[in-house]
Order: sequence, then structure tokens, then C-alpha cells
Amino acid sequence: MQVDVHLDAREMSDALRADVIVGLGSFPKSLPPKWFYDDTGSLLFDEITRLDEDYPTRTESQILTSAAGEIADVSEADTLIELGSGTSEKTRAILDALHSGGRLRRFCPFDVSEGVLRSSALAIESEYDGVAVHAVVGDFETHLELLPREGRRMIAFLGSTVGNFDPKKRAAFFSDVSAGLTAGDSFLLGTDLVKPPERLVAAYDDARGITAAFNKNVLAVLNRELDADFELSQFAHVACWNEAEQWIEMRLRSLRDQRVTVRRLDMTVDFAAGEEILTEISTKFTRDGICGELGDVGLVEAGWWEDPAGDFALSLWHSP
Ligand code: SAH
Ligand code: AVI
Repeated sequence: MQVDVHLDAREMSDALRADVIVGLGSFPKSLPPKWFYDDTGSLLFDEITRLDEDYPTRTESQILTSAAGEIADVSEADTLIELGSGTSEKTRAILDALHSGGRLRRFCPFDVSEGVLRSSALAIESEYDGVAVHAVVGDFETHLELLPREGRRMIAFLGSTVGNFDPKKRAAFFSDVSAGLTAGDSFLLGTDLVKPPERLVAAYDDARGITAAFNKNVLAVLNRELDADFELSQFAHVACWNEAEQWIEMRLRSLRDQRVTVRRLDMTVDFAAGEEILTEISTKFTRDGICGELGDVGLVEAGWWEDPAGDFALSLWHSP
């Protein structure tokens, strides 16, 4: 198995430092969601995907299972690249469809989280005979030009992870994806669709508190990596629907006035009681919105699949 590491420990540490200096030095405070996913955070995310409240994973998985054959046929891909691949569990439906059609030659999972990437890539290599696995450790916001270029590629971005970008970053991301596609390549996108806020909030504030632990894990990452002294019990998990922006916000709310020290940055951060850190936005989409944004970067729709309730959609795109 080939593993390209475009983000080694030093680069990760530099990027985390820069994000903390900017994010906790600003008002309102924020942290980018990619720092959730150390080994513990990746396990917590995996637990989230098994919760009753977590309709997105379940629904996307059902759509993939029924549409994988068609997606494989329409794309005619022999190389599957998966951005933000995590455990690649749902991806197996597409791998199976490409493999059973005798097409699949290469699988390239791409993720910022090296531990989960290596273990899932190894598992897939042992399960799919004759398929070359080429894993890439990188940041999909900055390293898209480093994706493997061999073969007829389908670039998959599942789980509605695209919803974690703000609109400006999303437009830049779509533009980079489009610019990187060559004739015959395709882009498969998973998007969570707009629905009543009560269901959305329940999915981001589950009864067992797994999402709360996932959210607070970012503070544990800062404690370990930057020798900070966040007391996790002094922050509350908050999930709320932003109607104007059509996204869920996850925040961490300080339960009292407190001062936190980030020793490796020689930084102190003051929190007023009730003050919040924005840790994630999770945008919900409409078909018109997605088609407009991908049309704007010159991509052409090759297929749209959604569940009967209209909760989640998968769409496939080609260069003209
Ligand atoms: N695709 C999987 C996992 C989604 S969780 C699914 O649909 O279930 C989001 C994944 O994206 C995690 O594995 C996380 O490590 C990865 N990730 C988050 N930010 C990233 C970034 N900036 N670059 C690359 N991977 C990132
Ligand atoms: C990975 N990402 C798309 C998930 C989401 O829904 O925004 C992460 C997540 N956060 C809370 N639950 C799941």
C-alpha cells in the first residue's frame, strides 16, 4: 500500500497553532472543525454515525446501496478517490459496484486524520483483490492539486462534509474540484437537505451526549497538543439552527467567567460566562442551490439520487 503524507506532525502542529491564534484571538471565537478528528474524535464520529438520531449516514448509505450500480456505470471510473474518507464504510457500496463490474483498479482515500486513514486503507486493501490502494494524508482545503492523477477518476465527497465549509470556502472548493477534473473524470457529492429544524437539532444534540463529547474533544486536542488547560466540564455543548444561513451551528459555551492558558503559545484566553466558541457549521442544501453552485463552476449534472423522504441527496457531475 502506498501512503503519501502531505501533512506530517510538524505541519499539523504549525497549522493548529495558527488556527488557535486566529480563532481564539478573535471575537466571536471560533475553531475549524478539522481539529475534531484525532483518534478519539474519529471514534466518536463513528459512534455518532450509529445513533438513532443520525439520519444522514443511514440515509446516504441506503441511497448508495441502491444507486451504486448506476453510479459505477455512469461514471465508468476505474479509480475512486475519496475526500474526507474516515472509515470509508459507506464507500464500500461503490467499491463493490466498480469491483464487480471488473473496472476498479485503484482506491485513493484522502483524509487529515492519519490513524483512521491507515487502518481503513489497510482493511480495504485486504478485502478487494487486485485493487491498488494509495492513501493520502492531506487537507482537502489546500492539497487538492496533490491528488493522484492516474486512471479515469471519480472523486467522491460523501457525508455532506461539504456542508462544513462556509459559502466562500465552498465556492473555492467547487472551483478547485472542477479545475482538477480531466475529460472522463467525475465528482460524486453527498449533501444533507433542508428539513424541519427539530430533526436537525436532535441529530446534533443526541440524547446519549455523543455529539457533545465529539464537540468538546476539540478542547482535549488543544490541551494535549498545545499544553492548554481547558476544563471540559466548564463548557457546554450547544447545537442550534441558523435560519438565515440555513446551517446548524455547533458551539461550546463557557459556563463561567474563566481564563484558559495555552502554554505552548504563551497565550491566555479569557471567556465571559455564556461566551461561545463556534466549532462547526453544517449547511443544509436544496437541489436548486447545489445545481446552481456546481453549474457556476462549469460542471454538468450526470445523475441525482435522493431518498423518498427527500432527506439526503447524492449527485454526480462531469466536466462538459
Ligand atoms: N466520509 C465519512 C467521514 C465524514 S467525517 C462519512 O461520510 O462518514 C469528516 C472526515 O473528514 C473525517 O474523517 C475528517 O478527518 C476528515 N476531514 C475533516 N477536515 C478535513 C480536511 N480539512 N482535510 C481532509 N480531511 C478532513
Ligand atoms: C462530517 N460532518 C459532515 C458532520 C456534520 O454533520 O456536519 C460532522 C458532525 N458534527 C456533528 N455530528 C456530525
